[in-house]
Amino acid sequence: MMLCVNVDHVATVREARKTFEPDPVVAATLAILGGADGITVHLREDRRHINDRDLRLLRGVVPHELNLEMAATEEMIRIATDVKPDMVTLVPEKREELTTEGGMDMLAQKEHLRKAVKKINDAGIPVSLFINPEIIDVDVSKEIGADMVEIHTGFYSNLRGKKQEGELHRIINAVKFANKVGLMTNAGHGLNYFNIKGIASIEGIRGLYIGHSIISRAVLSGIEKAVMEMKDLIHKASLGKRAIEYPSALMQKL
Ligand code: PXP
Repeated sequence: MMLCVNVDHVATVREARKTFEPDPVVAATLAILGGADGITVHLREDRRHINDRDLRLLRGVVPHELNLEMAATEEMIRIATDVKPDMVTLVPEKREELTTEGGMDMLAQKEHLRKAVKKINDAGIPVSLFINPEIIDVDVSKEIGADMVEIHTGFYSNLRGKKQEGELHRIINAVKFANKVGLMTNAGHGLNYFNIKGIASIEGIRGLYIGHSIISRAVLSGIEKAVMEMKDLIHKASLGKRAIEYPSALMQKL
C-alpha cells in the first residue's frame, strides 16, 4: 500500500510569516528520502498555503507520484494541464473551510465533473475523485470516466467506538465496490498514528493520503535537533567574546 504525503501544512507555516521557510519543496524531497511513494499538494483558489511557484518546482523535483488536489474550476484545469502532475484529485473547495470537509456531491456535480475529468484526461493526466464512502458515489465516479477514487476517511477519523466501526464498514464496502467496477481506490483525510490501523488493513486500497498528522509529528520530533543546531551556532559565534557582567543585584532576581 502506497503512502502519499501531503506537504500543504509546511507551506501553512511559511505563509504564517510570508517568508522563505519552511519550504514545502524541500519537505517533499525529504519525505521521498524517508520512503514516501508520492507527494500531494492542494493548490487552493486563495493560495493560502501552496502557491504556483511551489507546484512548478515540485513538478521538477518529485519524480513520482505528484498528485495535485484541486477544485474542478477552469483556472485549476488550465494550471493542471500545463504543469502536468502525475495525477489530479478533484475535491470540493469552500473558501471558509479549515480543510476539505467531505467528499464531492457526486449527484449534483455529475455533469460538471464529467467535463472536468475529460479535459484533464485529454491532457494525459489520470483523475481521482474525492468521494464519501457511498456505493452511489462510486458508481457515478465510474460512469463519468474517473480513473480512481479517494474514499473520504474524515468521518471515520472523528468517530469513536461502535460508530467508528460502522463507518469503517461503510468504507470497506465502498472499497470493495470500487475494486469490483475497476476503479483504483485510495483513501485519506484525518488519518493519524492512532487510527491508521483500521484503514491500512483494508484489502484493495492502493494508497493512503496523509498530511496533517505526519507534518505535526515532524514538527515535534525535529524540535530537539533544531534547538541543538541553533545553540551550536550561537556557541560558535560567541566563542572568545567577553561575557557581560551584570550587577549581582540584578542577577539575583533571576
Ligand atoms: N485527501 C484529501 C482529498 C484531502 O483534501 C486532504 C487534506 O488536504 C488529505 C487527503 C489529507 O488529510 P490530512 O491532512 O487530514 O491527513
